[in-house]
Formats: sequence, C-alpha cells, structure tokens
Amino acid sequence: MLQCNILRLFHIVDVLEKSVSGAAAALPTIEAQPTHKALPMFLDAGDLSPEATYRLMSGIVVPRPIAWITTVSEAGVVNLAPFSCFTFVSNKPPLLGVNIGRKAGRRKDTGANIHALGEFVVNIGDASQMVAIHESSAEHAPDVSETELLGLGTLPCSTVRVPRLADAPVSMECRLERVIAFGDTGAEFFVGEVTAFHLRDGLMREGKVDTRALDPVCRIGGPNYATLGEIVTLRGMQQTPKAVMDGRGGG
Ligand SMILES: Cc1cc2nc3c(=O)[nH]c(=O)nc-3n(C[C@H](O)[C@H](O)[C@H](O)COP(=O)(O)O)c2cc1C
Repeated sequence: MLQCNILRLFHIVDVLEKSVSGAAAALPTIEAQPTHKALPMFLDAGDLSPEATYRLMSGIVVPRPIAWITTVSEAGVVNLAPFSCFTFVSNKPPLLGVNIGRKAGRRKDTGANIHALGEFVVNIGDASQMVAIHESSAEHAPDVSETELLGLGTLPCSTVRVPRLADAPVSMECRLERVIAFGDTGAEFFVGEVTAFHLRDGLMREGKVDTRALDPVCRIGGPNYATLGEIVTLRGMQQTPKAVMDGRGGG
C-alpha cells in the first residue's frame, strides 16, 4: 500500500514537472525578449556634417520662438522671412539676436538687406499666421516681395525705414548694433537694438504681455510647429533688481 502511494506521488510530481516545463517552453525566455530600452548614443561633433549638426541642434534646442523679419533691399523691395535661432540678449538697451545662415555661401536676402540698410523689424506672428510664417520661408529672388506674394499688409515704422507687418500682434523696430560671424558656413549673429515696440491693443495686462492673447507660434524641427500649451504658475522668486552699470558691458 505504502509502495503504491509512493509510486502515485512520483507520478504526480512527474506530471507537474512536465506541465511546468511545457509552460516554460511556450514562453520566450527573458534573454530572448527584445529590450525596449533605448541605447545611449554618443556623437563626436567633429564627425557631423553641417546639415546633420543643424538637424541635431534644431531638434534639441526646442521650442524656439520665431522672429518674422521684415527688411528692405537697396532696390526698395520689402522682404519677409522667419528665423528661429532667435533670442533677446539684453534688456537695457533692449537687444535682440538672430542667427542668419547662408545659401550655398551667399547671404540670405534678410542678412544682405540688414548689412546694407542697418535696420530691420522683428515681427512676432500668432497661431492664426502659422501657414504664412512657414510659406514666407520659401526661397525667392531678391526682387520678389514675400509680403506682396502672401498678401500681407504692412505699415510704416516710426524710427526705421523698414515697414512692419500690419496684422502681427508685436513688431519691434531694430537698428543694427553689431554682426558677429560664427562657424565654417558663414552664419552671422545679428544683434539689433530695439528702438520702438508696437503691441496690439489688449495684449498688455497689468504691465505684462498676456501670453494667451499673444498666442505665439514656435518652431520644433523641420516643418513642425507648436502653439502654447498649458501654462503652469509656480511661486514667484525674489530677484535682486538690475542696476545700470557705468559704461556698456560692465566687467
Ligand atoms: C520657422 C522657420 C525658422 C527659420 N529659422 C532660420 C534661422 O534661424 N536662420 C536661418 O538662417 N534660416 C532660418 N530659416 C530659413 C529661412 O527662413 C529661409 O532660408 C528663407 O528663405 C530666408 O529668406 P530670405 O533669403 O528672404 O532672407 C527658417 C525657416 C523657417 C520656416
């Protein structure tokens, strides 16, 4: 009887082992499963072409605001193009900076016009103007006016000879302060001093720009854009007031 029970126990253990190993065989082993963890990537900047570096940096430095720049050529043609390598570099005086590259070694119309006249206007478009902002980047001969081509109205400025876009929520009249050349492709960083601001009615609230009302467009990579998402307000931080220093540049 005891021997019979022991034999039955061995049989049960055998059946269990077989079913467990069968189940295990049906499942892929852990080693066989593809890993979904992305591998870190190391890129030696010196190995990258100008195009590859541009794609990489414009994908990393995001989102970027867009300076929608009007200029006038020596022949009097109003030029319009968007530039997202754009930031402000000083508040007193107000200075804006924009990086303008070249097309096959030749200055873009915007760069050439700023060099010639020393004046330009940085307009800020809103989300309703996104398609026009994008379309104004198409390459045209210097005698073609993108404002006329796109049917965008302009208005004269007060302190510069370049017109501003009539429907842009913000336009900043700029006088060229300096140009700094960078890199191997002839790109130039144009710094302009803002001599006058134009702000659409209702854009300022309690002394500040109402960002929702501005409804800005920003550039991501390539033909991809984004609009303002959620605004998160955290606690205000105490800031030591800025002081005007003797002589520009300080030390
Ligand atoms: C949203 C956007 C942002 C751009 N940003 C820049 C930029 O920062 N610098 C640049 O050289 N070109 C930039 N471009 C490309 C110029 O707009 C494009 O070369 C244009 O044809 C220049 O026009 P222009 O020759 O009339 O100055 C950008 C294009 C788009 C669509």
